[in-house]
Amino acid sequence: MNTKKDKLVIFDTTLRDGEQSPGASMTKDEKIRIAKMLERMRVDVIEAGFAIASQGDFDAVQAVAEAVKDSRVCSLARAVGPDIIRAGEALKKANASRIHTFIATSPIHMKYKLQMEPEKVLEQAVAAVKHARQFTDDVEFSLEDGSRSEPDFMYRIIEAVIAAGAGTINIPDTVGYGEPGEYGAMFRRVIENVPNSDQAIFSTHCHNDLGLAVANSLSAVMNGVRQVECTINGLGERAGNASLEEIVMAVQTRHDLYPVETRIDPSHIVPTSRMVSSITGFPVQPNKAIVGANAFAHESGIHQDGVLKHRETYEIMRAEDVGWGNNRLVLGKHSGRAAVKARYEELGHSFDDPAEFQLVFQRFKDLADKKHEIFDEDLQSIMAGAQEPVERYRLGSIDVHSRSGNRPRAQMQILIDGAEVNAEADGSGPVDATFKAIESVVKSAADLKLYSVNAVTQGTDSQGSVTVRLERDGRLVNGVGADTDILVASAQAYLDALNLLASGESKRKGV
Ligand code: KIV
Ligand code: ZN
Repeated sequence: MNTKKDKLVIFDTTLRDGEQSPGASMTKDEKIRIAKMLERMRVDVIEAGFAIASQGDFDAVQAVAEAVKDSRVCSLARAVGPDIIRAGEALKKANASRIHTFIATSPIHMKYKLQMEPEKVLEQAVAAVKHARQFTDDVEFSLEDGSRSEPDFMYRIIEAVIAAGAGTINIPDTVGYGEPGEYGAMFRRVIENVPNSDQAIFSTHCHNDLGLAVANSLSAVMNGVRQVECTINGLGERAGNASLEEIVMAVQTRHDLYPVETRIDPSHIVPTSRMVSSITGFPVQPNKAIVGANAFAHESGIHQDGVLKHRETYEIMRAEDVGWGNNRLVLGKHSGRAAVKARYEELGHSFDDPAEFQLVFQRFKDLADKKHEIFDEDLQSIMAGAQEPVERYRLGSIDVHSRSGNRPRAQMQILIDGAEVNAEADGSGPVDATFKAIESVVKSAADLKLYSVNAVTQGTDSQGSVTVRLERDGRLVNGVGADTDILVASAQAYLDALNLLASGESKRKGV
């Protein structure tokens, strides 16, 4: 029996499509940290951004291209000259680069969005691929809204772009409309009907509007696809993309079914999921497959009994294989610098700047004074807080009085550009009073779009991790804060969001 498996290329687009989740924008430094984790995890291709979208996006693609050595780094580009030139420039220093160029091919997109005839679209696609090949020998072409495109037109355009030098052909389910049987069959027919299909790798890129992104991607794999585009935690435009951890673990766990294997080291999955969550402020739902807090927790007595007798009765994967097990080393107030640094290194953070480690270590000590045991999740949240953009607003102190029957009142000291300012307000609850006190002096005119609190670890001494999403002039930012006192964490998160709104570098969204 031939057991040789094909390679499945894992193309991560957390830093590009993931960043297109409303409010999930990331700074250049944050993108580098995530990219380094993806590299450790042995992701094949990292889509680092959309170089033409802004100077910030260009800088981030360039910085990731310089920082990453073991994964191919990719930039998105529309099928137009200026986009391709910008992508090529940003990727100049990459060890291995890819330009990912795309144009819409569905009747509805060509008619209403592009207002172009199909023949013109085909011509532009071929020209874009040839142009991109002048910068790199690795060019991917995507047929945007491919799952709603006419088969005969797709065959023609795919044959033409392969002949022009595209090595990867991606047929995205851009609007999340596909259904597994139908989407998989589409790939089978494309591969059969395109005469030169053997000269390219076919790829999926599925959105999760109907909750089918992972199922659609896996069905495509069963039908000849050998690259999956996906994101950590399923982050992405609207309902998100196919989640990397689910694709990788499905293929690995059901190796009896799938004719492919990846080169991913799954032990980095949970730390990477946590890093992405703490940077973006998008909490992971507890029942999320693989990376949710409950993914390996057994509540029912019958299940617990079964697992204790023989683990495989109820567990199809081992928690430690995806990074849960050894992830629990506990630090405390007696832990020294070396132990803390070593643990951070295992979690994928290295400190080139001694001042940065000093700040992180100080925050670790402050937290260890309040909380008995420090877990990896705590270390991640300390790290997120220590990497804030230029701090225009900082919390000095906070005093909130809350008594049943009375309106809560918050009194605070806020440092604005280093100057101490007193603020106070009452509100319908203690958090409301805190935010109103801040607004009474900052007067940001921003709208609060989301407020969420999650326990970082278990137990009542857990830090509360707070996300505050603010919007002003069409810009969305997510501020994060963590502390054992959730009012302190709330104030920090609100001020973090204000700092993001104020910062020049700003975490902004692509086009
Ligand atoms: O969803 C989509 O079609 C995309 C393309 C740019 C690949 O993100
Ligand atoms: Zn997409």
